[in-house]
Amino acid sequence: MPIGLIILQYIHVLFAATLLGSALFIDLVLWPTLLRRPAPEAKGFFETSLKTTSILMGVSSGITFLSGILRGTIFGNIHSWNDFVTPYGVTFSIAFLATLAMMIHGPRIGPKLLKEVWKGKNFTPNAKAKVHSALAVSWISVLIILACMVLMHFGL
Ligand code: HEM
Repeated sequence: MPIGLIILQYIHVLFAATLLGSALFIDLVLWPTLLRRPAPEAKGFFETSLKTTSILMGVSSGITFLSGILRGTIFGNIHSWNDFVTPYGVTFSIAFLATLAMMIHGPRIGPKLLKEVWKGKNFTPNAKAKVHSALAVSWISVLIILACMVLMHFGL
């Protein structure tokens, strides 16, 4: 039995689920709730949660990324540069690039929103639109990455 592969797949899916679950919670629960509370209270809450959120998502994305690379190479189908031009290799590369982009862009979202959503003790007039557009990038990346995972499962 490929025990190493099973453990690696478990780690990959565990941290991928943590990442996806955290993103869903932030987008669908945390931000809509913050925008319904008084601005100073919402700002205090968001500021306090920012560091822990960054650690949780940074660690989850890092482990998901590294375990995904190992899962596709040493423990998977990609063993030479030629394998990158197969359908599986192309899907793998898209997942690689989309996750890398998300890991670079993701940590900037929170601090950017902290600057743009509040002005003094009030919300800025277009706070809701700013939140929606900032979070849309992470949503789109996650949907693309998840589609890649499903395709790779079927050998594509
Ligand atoms: C947000 C990031 C990611 C999420 C949510 C995610 C999620 C998943 C899930 C749920 C599976 C299990 C699929 C199955 O067995 O049916 C999987 C498998 C896999 N993932 Fe990821 N993953 C992510 C990032 C990555 C990255 C960056 C890579 C590598 C570049 C990668 C490579 C793989 C590989 C090779 C498999 C096995 C596919 C197969 O069955 O051949 N993943 N991933």
